[in-house]
Amino acid sequence: MTLAVRDTQLRELMDDPACDLTRLHTTLRRFSVVNRLVSGWGAVYRSRVAPYLRGLGRPARVLDLGCGGGDVIARLAALARREGLVAEWVGVDPDERALAVARRYAGLGIRFEATDSAALRAAGERFDVVISNHVLHHLDQAAFAAFRDDSLALVEGGSRGLVLHGDIARGRLAYGLYAVGITPLAPGSFLRTDGLRSIRRSYTGPELATALGTGWRVERPAPFRVLAVAGGRRA
Ligand SMILES: C[S@@+](CC[C@H](N)C(=O)[O-])C[C@H]1O[C@@H](n2cnc3c(N)ncnc32)[C@H](O)[C@@H]1O
Repeated sequence: MTLAVRDTQLRELMDDPACDLTRLHTTLRRFSVVNRLVSGWGAVYRSRVAPYLRGLGRPARVLDLGCGGGDVIARLAALARREGLVAEWVGVDPDERALAVARRYAGLGIRFEATDSAALRAAGERFDVVISNHVLHHLDQAAFAAFRDDSLALVEGGSRGLVLHGDIARGRLAYGLYAVGITPLAPGSFLRTDGLRSIRRSYTGPELATALGTGWRVERPAPFRVLAVAGGRRA
């Protein structure tokens, strides 16, 4: 096994439509713990999301594309609410199995819909901020390009709005630390197998910058993380 190159042939167990539903739901629920520990969205909220929302001076529309179990948008919504920032929060995912878990946050003023980036774009939807977490590394080349372009179109081509795609940065240390650290959370879930496969499928910062092309910046918001940023200029 090498981490020198992306292993794009690996499939994650949770991506199998026939996978065990109990294990899948356990995995999605425990993402809330894993994401809070490793995904760096607290720092991204403080450095990127909150300043942007404050600067708008009006209620914003914020979209989480591929929201999975919904914990990332729920966390951002809670942080914003705490400082009095008003926004409409929308989480979408084409996978109804994930939305069944995400809807536990629906009472917190977040709307969840079973749809995807292409359908939202085709419907002419527009948002001020579009985010995703752990989606990019899942996608093959064509799906990656479509997802990237859809996310930009949803904030009007980056001429308005902010796009932030967070993901894992592939590396040996990330792999070794995750293999050990996930042990208490792994039983009854796909977290060990899929987490390690995710790291092997993930991009390094320079690889992600090349895949995204012009108009994007790739930052390192936290250890073992990459953040793809586009737009951010206010109308
Ligand atoms: C590994 S999950 C990440 C879930 C969640 N964001 C998290 O961090 O826990 C990737 C999700 O992206 C969704 N997805 C894939 N392509 C998508 C698209 N074009 N639009 C919206 N969601 C998409 C999948 O259905 C899947 O639930």
